[in-house]
Amino acid sequence: MKLQEKLLQYQQSGRAILAANFYNYETLAGILRAAQAENEPVILQLSESSINYLGLEIAAKLARAALSQFRVQGWLHLDHGATPELAGRCLDAGFDSVMIDGSEKPFEENIKITSQVVKMAEAYGANVEAELGFIAKLGQQHDVDGFTKASQAREFVESTGVNALAVAIGSSHGFYKQEPKLDIGRLMEIRQSTAVPLVLHGASGIPDEMLRDAIRNGIVKVNLATESKNAFMKELKSLLFSTDEIDLRKVFPPAIDAVKEIITHKIRLVSMK
Ligand code: 13P
Repeated sequence: MKLQEKLLQYQQSGRAILAANFYNYETLAGILRAAQAENEPVILQLSESSINYLGLEIAAKLARAALSQFRVQGWLHLDHGATPELAGRCLDAGFDSVMIDGSEKPFEENIKITSQVVKMAEAYGANVEAELGFIAKLGQQHDVDGFTKASQAREFVESTGVNALAVAIGSSHGFYKQEPKLDIGRLMEIRQSTAVPLVLHGASGIPDEMLRDAIRNGIVKVNLATESKNAFMKELKSLLFSTDEIDLRKVFPPAIDAVKEIITHKIRLVSMK
């Protein structure tokens, strides 16, 4: 099943699918162990820097092979693609879905590059996600003025034909300095103005009930990176401090388990279990 169809299915059922970023085999394995144990599908995401780190061909083949070996239904997605050129390379490498992030460009320009990628993805039958409004990236300041406007969301979706839309409603990437507050009223307005499945970026650190509220009001895809990366590294650091073990096959498994644990919790949460 294509991801765009799956997202519509989730939208109908009032649940969301977890989109988890991976960085290496170990984080990938942690995500897939959780999805397998929960018997739930998952979206595997790669950012441009992870693609550069792993190499595009290895990254795509690793994800495919792992989905098959763990027997998990899943899709491979480019997270925050900066250019149509990168989206095109990922589509050629076999990605099921690409995000084109023109959110920091003027509205018309965002429409232009998103439309370009939607057209490009048609030939591959791939899903396309775009972002409208400003969701602070790591190191950027949160900006309430940048929240997505419902009227613009409708125009954007109608002009581009995009399959999924990331909205700015109060989340941001990375850890929060103070407790985040999602603008659920605004989310409801956006949901009423467009039927497109909506995406929440920056799910790390959003309290469980707030996340569920967002899902009840139209969020269909939930992006998570920082919390699982943090769980992996924290476990690894504490292990390395307490042992002289040099067999990495003995050192990594507890860190993989830490990823599995956090992903299990999030999968249960977003699938409304
Ligand atoms: P966090 O790192 O805040 O979980 O955000 C992940 C994300 O939105 C990836 O696009």
